[in-house]
Amino acid sequence: MKIRAAITGVHGYVPDYVLSNKVLETMVDTNSEWIESRTGIQERRILKGKGLGNSDMGVAAIKGLLKKKNISPEEIDMIIVGTVTGDLVFPSTSNIICDKIGAKNAWGYDIAAACSGFLFALTTATQFIETGRYKKIIVVGSDKMSSIVDYTDRATCIIFGDGAGAVLLEPDTEGSGIIDSILRVDGSGRKFLFQPGGGSVLPPTMRTVANRDHFIYQEGQAVFKFAVKGMADVSEEIMKRNNLKGEDVAWLVPHQANKRIIDATAHRMKIGSEKVMLNIHRYGNTTSGTIPLCLWDYEKQLHKGDNIILSAFGGGFTWGAIYLKWAYDTK
Ligand code: UT7
Repeated sequence: MKIRAAITGVHGYVPDYVLSNKVLETMVDTNSEWIESRTGIQERRILKGKGLGNSDMGVAAIKGLLKKKNISPEEIDMIIVGTVTGDLVFPSTSNIICDKIGAKNAWGYDIAAACSGFLFALTTATQFIETGRYKKIIVVGSDKMSSIVDYTDRATCIIFGDGAGAVLLEPDTEGSGIIDSILRVDGSGRKFLFQPGGGSVLPPTMRTVANRDHFIYQEGQAVFKFAVKGMADVSEEIMKRNNLKGEDVAWLVPHQANKRIIDATAHRMKIGSEKVMLNIHRYGNTTSGTIPLCLWDYEKQLHKGDNIILSAFGGGFTWGAIYLKWAYDTK
């Protein structure tokens, strides 16, 4: 039977500090009711502490995963990290994580696909397992969004939070694992959601800092329209080409950007809200972190053989959907 890449474990990490809607009311001109009704978010986590970065959240998630699976860091072949807020411009956060956890036999790299980062990384890792070349790959989705959020901009600071999730991928020949994926990019959408400064077009200078160019720029309404269509389109397409109807799907795991985008996607897929994973109220939008954090939160409710659709839309634009069969029951 064909070798498939199956998720055989999941773990997550969110920082302790809770930034509630009420506290945001004291920082910008907003109110809790508006935030909750327009986005579904009640609070988000923020990584505080000098010298702490993205890799520290990834490390915490991976350490929990290794402990749960009772495997040592030396057994890991690769670590692929979906992120747009790496510790440094270079080297990659994967590189730093390998060092911090002692994954001496692993190699890896980062994938920058904004909110679709975890899906792009998971699909990439799947290829290495399917060839038979690698046996244990960790895929991380981790973002420290607070490092690029302007806390004077009410249009963006209410949405984002920090967090990381990690999954272990292993070969499966019994029918579970990642079955299909559809991934898309449209670079013409970059003007609606991006970080203007800090890259090679606009390297950091006193002026770029003064202009607040190192923060996220987003045209929320435009992104919202593309996101609703993009996420629903690929989710519907992946169901169609795998002959799945709404009732065949056990769980939809949507990127957590806005509850209204999630509802619209589930509606197009004819999936009831009881089968939609949701944690946006607690963590906000953690970019690459949202999907693995959902899997972590819902792990105990998942069963071997469950048909699961992961779906995301993000800056770039990037978007996509993955169809997988869950590989294990949690004792
Ligand atoms: O994850 C990556 C992809 N990103 C996304 O998917 C985000 C997609 N976009 C969104 O989720 C929504 O567009 C936002 C949550 C960002 C904004 O919600 P919206 O319903 O699109 O609001 P809007 O920008 O159309 O603004 C509606 C009103 C405006 O007031 P007026 O002009 O109607 O008087 C805004 O000034 O709400 C006002 N407003 C706010 N009010 C209180 C905008 N932001 C806030 C705020 N608090 N934080």
